[in-house]
Amino acid sequence: MAAAEQLNQNHAIDWSQGAAWVDGAIVPAKEAKLSVFDWGFTRSDVTYDVVHVWKGRFFRLDDHLDRFLRSVDGLRMELPVDRDGLAQILHDCVARSGLQDSYVAMVLTRGQPDPAWPKRLPSNFKGRNNLICYAIPFVWIMKPEIQETGARMIIAEAPRIASSSVDPTIKNYHWGDFTNALFEVEDTDADYAVLMGPDGFVAESPGSNIFAVLDGVVTSPNHGALEGITRKAVHDLCELMGQPDAQRDITRDELLDADEIFMASTAGGIMPIRQINERILSNGAPGPISRVIHAEYWKKHDEGWHATPVNYGA
Ligand SMILES: Cc1ncc(COP(=O)(O)O)c(C=O)c1O
Repeated sequence: MAAAEQLNQNHAIDWSQGAAWVDGAIVPAKEAKLSVFDWGFTRSDVTYDVVHVWKGRFFRLDDHLDRFLRSVDGLRMELPVDRDGLAQILHDCVARSGLQDSYVAMVLTRGQPDPAWPKRLPSNFKGRNNLICYAIPFVWIMKPEIQETGARMIIAEAPRIASSSVDPTIKNYHWGDFTNALFEVEDTDADYAVLMGPDGFVAESPGSNIFAVLDGVVTSPNHGALEGITRKAVHDLCELMGQPDAQRDITRDELLDADEIFMASTAGGIMPIRQINERILSNGAPGPISRVIHAEYWKKHDEGWHATPVNYGA
C-alpha cells in the first residue's frame, strides 16, 4: 500500500478508544477478538497483567513485565515473543492509540485446541498460546472524586478461593468468588467488598490489594493475594517517608477495628475507605495516613519515579 494511502486510512480510523495487538497486527481496541473455542474463554485458562501509562510514561513497567513472565511460567505457557518484544508491543499499542493516560494490558490465553487431540491437556497447546495486548483509556475502579471522600466497604460472606486451588499470585480471570462478593455489594448500599481467605485472614478485594492502618503501621496481608505492584509502591513510599509498614496476617476483627483502610490497584492507585460494614472510619473521611500516601503516589508520578517514557514515535 502506498504511504499516502496508508496515511489516509490511519486518519479515517478512530484510535481514541485504544489500540490492540492481535495476531501480530495492531487494530482499534474495539475490533480485538478471541475465538469462543479458546481455553482462555472456555476455562478462564489465561494469565494477564496490567501496567498503566500516566502523562506519557509507563509506571513500573519492569515490575509488571517480571510479574507477567512469572505468571506465564507458572501456568506452563510460552510467549510468542521475548521480553523486549513484549515491551515493544506495549509501546506500539500506546503509541498507536495516542493516549497519554492509559490502562495497558498484556493477556496470554492457553489458545485453541485441535478437536482431534485425544488428550486435552495444557501441554498439548505448546506453541499455540495466544498473546493479546491493548492500550485503552486509563481505568479508575474508584473515581478520583470518590477517592477524595472515601468509599464504603463490606467484608464479603463469600470467601476467597483457596490458594491451593487457584494461585492468587498468578494474575488470573478466575473471578467466581469476586463476582459473588460483588453481588453482595449490589445487595447492600456499599461500594466495594473485601474477601477473607479460607484460613480466616483478610485476603484482597476484587481487583485490588487491601491495607489497614493498625496501631500506626500500614499493614497488608502476607499471603492469599496478588503481589500487587501498587502495593509494592506503597511499601516503597512508606520506606521513603519513614512510615512503618508490615505484611502479616490480618484478622477480621483487626480489619473491623482498623484506624484506616485503603485499597491499592494499578487501575485507580490509592483508594481510601471511610466505612467498613457498619463502622465509620476517621469521622467518615479518608484517614491522614491514607491521604499522605495517596498524595505521594501521584506526586511521585509527576516526578518520574519508576517511569519509562512511551516511545510515541514507534
Ligand atoms: C485480584 C487483584 N488483587 C490486587 C490487584 C492490584 O494489583 P496491581 O497493584 O499490580 O494492579 C489486582 C489488580 O488488578 C487484582 O486483580
